[in-house]
Amino acid sequence: MYALVTGASRGIGKSITKSLLKEDGRVIGTARSSEFPAEFTENEDFEGLHVDLSDPIAVETKLKPIFQRDEAPKVLINNAGIFRDVDFEEDDESWLQNWDNTMQVNLRAPALLSKWALNRWKKEEGGYLINIASRAAYRGDTQEYASYAASKGGMVALTKSIARDFGKDDISAYSIAPGFIKTDMAMDSIEIYGEDYLTEGMAFDEITSPDEVGELVAFLASGKVPHMTGATFHINGGSYMI
Ligand code: NAI
Repeated sequence: MYALVTGASRGIGKSITKSLLKEDGRVIGTARSSEFPAEFTENEDFEGLHVDLSDPIAVETKLKPIFQRDEAPKVLINNAGIFRDVDFEEDDESWLQNWDNTMQVNLRAPALLSKWALNRWKKEEGGYLINIASRAAYRGDTQEYASYAASKGGMVALTKSIARDFGKDDISAYSIAPGFIKTDMAMDSIEIYGEDYLTEGMAFDEITSPDEVGELVAFLASGKVPHMTGATFHINGGSYMI
């Protein structure tokens, strides 16, 4: 399989990339500015690209051409995301700045990438879209992270809409809704509340490893369950079950 993974340098995206390479996949991985791990750069099946998803011009100039190459990726994994807080009591300008940045990185850029991928896949033999959403899409978040929850809810609805209309083009689309996953993004909460507190409502006594998300993505990308299109896969240590 040939995949594009956004946010491949660390966290969940790094685990996804590791799993895909282990399954003999080829990966184009993106990161904003951080270096890619040596295990990727030394692998000839990996191509790294630096692109800031908060910059619409960079998204267009660096990522659109990927779907215009002679061979384009057959799997798109929209993984990169930001989780930034702003209080409802902040002034409108700061609050909207947070809202707009979050929507640009978490929803607008992934939607545009999906559009470019779908239009290419329609002309060929289909493809797989895997969007990394969040539990926040289902249970909301605290008010400071309302933009994050809204962006992830939008991502789930986008995925379902694509699933409904592109199945006949052999395109399947899935969402994954992780709970707390042990990455830099969750570190602030882990440092503030401690792992014991965060695992209180979970079926396990440790926070989920990003490697589990990587394995799930590799399975979905293998094309074994196309008829699960539109589904959301909840991976949250049993903290809620739907
Ligand atoms: P992380 O903060 O460890 O990594 C985020 C990745 O996104 C990095 O590779 C970073 O380079 C990339 N990124 C962030 N802003 C970017 C920008 N402006 N341009 C380009 N790339 C950018 O986060 P983590 O935990 O690996 O998150 C991955 C995805 O999983 C995100 O979409 C996140 O919302 C989602 N998620 C994570 C959870 C967690 O507990 N860690 C829970 C639920 C969802």
